Amino acid sequence: MAVLSFVSCPLYLNRDKFFSSSKIRHAKRCTNQFVPISMRAASNVLVVGGTGRVGTETIKALTRLSSQQLNITISGRNERRAQSLCHTLRSTAPAHRFDFVPCDITQIESLTSLFEPFDLVVHTAGPFQRKENPDALLNAAMQTNVKYMDVCDDLSHAVACKQLHEQAVSRGYSALISTGIYPGLSNLMAADACQSIDHVHSLKLYYHTAGTGGIGATILASTFLILSEAAVCYANGDQQLRPPAGDAEVLDFGGRIGRKTTYLLNLPEVTSLHNIVAPNANVFAKFSTAPPIWNWLLLATAKLVSPSILSNRDAMLKFSRFSLPIVRFVDQLSGARTGMVVVAEGRNTHIQFSFEHESLAACVGEATAAFAYELLNSKSIPPGVHFPEELNNDVRKNIIKNASLTANFCEKKRL
Ligand SMILES: NC(=O)c1ccc[n+]([C@@H]2O[C@H](COP(=O)([O-])OP(=O)(O)OC[C@H]3O[C@@H](n4cnc5c(N)ncnc54)[C@H](OP(=O)(O)O)[C@@H]3O)[C@@H](O)[C@H]2O)c1
Repeated sequence: MAVLSFVSCPLYLNRDKFFSSSKIRHAKRCTNQFVPISMRAASNVLVVGGTGRVGTETIKALTRLSSQQLNITISGRNERRAQSLCHTLRSTAPAHRFDFVPCDITQIESLTSLFEPFDLVVHTAGPFQRKENPDALLNAAMQTNVKYMDVCDDLSHAVACKQLHEQAVSRGYSALISTGIYPGLSNLMAADACQSIDHVHSLKLYYHTAGTGGIGATILASTFLILSEAAVCYANGDQQLRPPAGDAEVLDFGGRIGRKTTYLLNLPEVTSLHNIVAPNANVFAKFSTAPPIWNWLLLATAKLVSPSILSNRDAMLKFSRFSLPIVRFVDQLSGARTGMVVVAEGRNTHIQFSFEHESLAACVGEATAAFAYELLNSKSIPPGVHFPEELNNDVRKNIIKNASLTANFCEKKRL
């Protein structure tokens, strides 16, 4: 029996060296150096859902990433919250401008005039599940030729947006969908791993978040809505629908997370990665949370609550808001640590990316900002509506680099 051993290097090595190599032979841990890329002056960015946890962290990370001035407009329904955030941001990031514009994204007819003055719309106003007009924001952004990206974690929403791809190509218009950490950064890692393997036979995505990762009500509502759906996964390229929160598997996330029991979830990256990078492979995504009682509660919810209740968007939003004090309490006990492991296996090769961060909210913001930064500045994102794994090598590597500035990130390869 062949003994496979990971080639690993315990030291933090030069990050640029790591990313400039297209064929990586050795495991490398990377320093988290800032990588400056000049941005053109005063881009106008609209963050829809900017007062939310993901939106706010995205804004903060984007202002740190940008060496040139950004005009960032925060949009949502709650003016008081937005004005207070603008006030804070003006003192913490004085090089940039912050404004508020009211918006309710369910008022579709108002979106085109809202978007017109901007260079980029970043859509973080979840939950993305069970939306009536999932492609409305992308459509409005395309009509006004304003670049668009979202942090969508819902398959139907992503599919609806992807259907606008041909129209975007014919208009010379670019958009990125399902960005963020997972999905988002995880898709980039998977694409990178699969690129170095001849015949990928399995692509496995494992995610862990302690509590809600400090995020809160909307992600809880998203999780309940996802638990109402069968998990799409692929066996040798064939689609399978598996019970949500099933197929328990213990995985060692390493670092400060360690071994956790993970369960299947229905996430859009499984389908997009199957379609784009691993059409003949086994592909699935599994998720775990902590403390264990939180896992058991989610499992019990998936098993005991009727899908017709779990799939009711308004009911789940209300229930999540109602449970927010308990959620915050659990978050305080559990911390907000998050991790992911992406494994791609071929006949003779096994590549594993690991990522760990002390705060889900902060690293979603950092990852989303890295996508926004590239979409604003890169000349290498062609027209179309793209999943992260469709981006070219250089763009992918820039985003991975900027998305993991404050994370522990490593790649291991065994032959
Ligand atoms: N891809 C990834 O890596 C990733 C990771 C984590 C989370 N997510 C997704 O990110 C989403 C946001 O999560 P979060 O924790 O930031 O939620 P949150 O803190 O509850 O924020 C939601 C934001 O959306 C705004 N919003 C909600 N409905 C709106 C409407 N009808 N019109 C305008 N604005 C509206 C809210 O502002 P007002 O209430 O003031 O309108 C708020 O700013 C979730 O759906 C989650 O699934 C993605």
